[in-house]
Amino acid sequence: MTSPDQSKAAASAHEVLAADFRGAMRRLASGVALVTTADADGTRYGIAMTAVMSLSMEPPSLLLAINRTASLCRPLLDRGLFGVSILAREQEQSCNAFVSAPAAERFSHGDWIAHDESGIPLLGSALAGIVCRLDKAEPFGSHVVIRGLVDYVSLDPSSNALVYLDGRYGGMTAND
Ligand SMILES: Cc1cc2nc3c(=O)[nH]c(=O)nc-3n(C[C@H](O)[C@H](O)[C@H](O)COP(=O)(O)O)c2cc1C
Repeated sequence: MTSPDQSKAAASAHEVLAADFRGAMRRLASGVALVTTADADGTRYGIAMTAVMSLSMEPPSLLLAINRTASLCRPLLDRGLFGVSILAREQEQSCNAFVSAPAAERFSHGDWIAHDESGIPLLGSALAGIVCRLDKAEPFGSHVVIRGLVDYVSLDPSSNALVYLDGRYGGMTAND
């Protein structure tokens, strides 16, 4: 049987590991995207995300990790369609809005457009805009891992990306 002292030691070892892991992930520089959806009534939802990664080119697909408590999570799962707007350096303000502004205010700044066929919101001046169909959603811990199949892509010729590292924003171009 495990003694109270052993349980305490295991809990504290877990806390240390979790804190170290958080510190390690803060050192992983990431691009930032606004991930969005809209319901049948046209109400829009979105949050800023770094947990966006390319999955495969055949078929074109990507992965997201969304916190179950995020305001975007349920509407995205219900609609089964979502947009990914990859942010440029000068879009830090839009990014901040999608981290903490009230949901109703998030789309009030920026050149938001609705994708023709789906109405999914995309930021017109983002480095790239992608519309995906939900292929699979798998709960894991605090998050849901979303697999999306790419239906549409728009590209901007500029490449000055917004980058997030250790809790701060910076910029990076392909020539840096
Ligand atoms: C740089 C940055 C990256 C983030 N990446 C993610 C992410 O990948 N997945 C996620 O669920 N939340 C992520 N968040 C948190 C969401 O943007 C948002 O703050 C959170 O969902 C709370 O908003 P809500 O009240 O609309 O849900 C990130 C926040 C920041 C500042």
